[in-house]
Amino acid sequence: MLKSKPFTKEERERYLSALAESRAQADPAEEMSAFFAKRLGIYENVHLGRWAEEYAHIADYLGRETASLLDIGCGTGLELGSVYARFPAVRVKGIDLSAEMLSELRKKYAAYSPELVCGDYFAVPFGEEAFDAALSFETLHHFPGEKKGELYRKIFRALKKGGRYVECDYVACCEEEEELCRKDYERRKNVREGYLHIDIPLTKARQIGLLSAAGFRAETVYENGSTAIFVADKPR
Ligand SMILES: C[S@@+](CC[C@H](N)C(=O)[O-])C[C@H]1O[C@@H](n2cnc3c(N)ncnc32)[C@H](O)[C@@H]1O
Repeated sequence: MLKSKPFTKEERERYLSALAESRAQADPAEEMSAFFAKRLGIYENVHLGRWAEEYAHIADYLGRETASLLDIGCGTGLELGSVYARFPAVRVKGIDLSAEMLSELRKKYAAYSPELVCGDYFAVPFGEEAFDAALSFETLHHFPGEKKGELYRKIFRALKKGGRYVECDYVACCEEEEELCRKDYERRKNVREGYLHIDIPLTKARQIGLLSAAGFRAETVYENGSTAIFVADKPR
């Protein structure tokens, strides 16, 4: 298991002031799948540079009996390395908007034959009581709370009783950051059709509220600056 490293007061202040500056100069928002396709060549190095430890340990948070897993916004599958290391026989279904990201995943994990769906996780059916576990890593911070709530209810229905949802994502360190990002999102969101790559993180408390409202018993199990891991259990 990972050891939490929350921001100190000074780190948080520095972080907030740098964030306010960068949001004030943010470029026009790019369409989501085009954003990732364009950065495919550098994607894994950038992500591993920031979250190598979290990728390496994310499977520690799954239940002991994980035979089936839904990976929402799986991208190139960085989080699946630790999943397959702990559960070599797990049946994985991954959903992602980007065909380019999925093609990398398919090459890397061909030996495990994951089922991959190129589509929108808000629209692709997940089924009912179909999975032991669901996982999302650095994908949901692009959507406002109402959309997340909708997805959490869908994940809840897709899990078997006693199943577990694990989320590692960018969270707002405080209300001030949440509000700053929400305003930036409102300002930039209407430039074109489809999903846009804009960060709109929520505080940990807001996340837990949404997960609980969907029926989960949820807690924050880890934080590292603006990254948190949530474990959400569906009661038996
Ligand atoms: C930052 S990447 C994370 C990928 C992977 N989970 C990881 O941590 O390496 C976010 C991924 O979410 C996908 N994504 C964003 N919105 C989506 C949606 N509505 N449906 C399916 N995939 C989506 C993007 O295409 C992208 O591959």
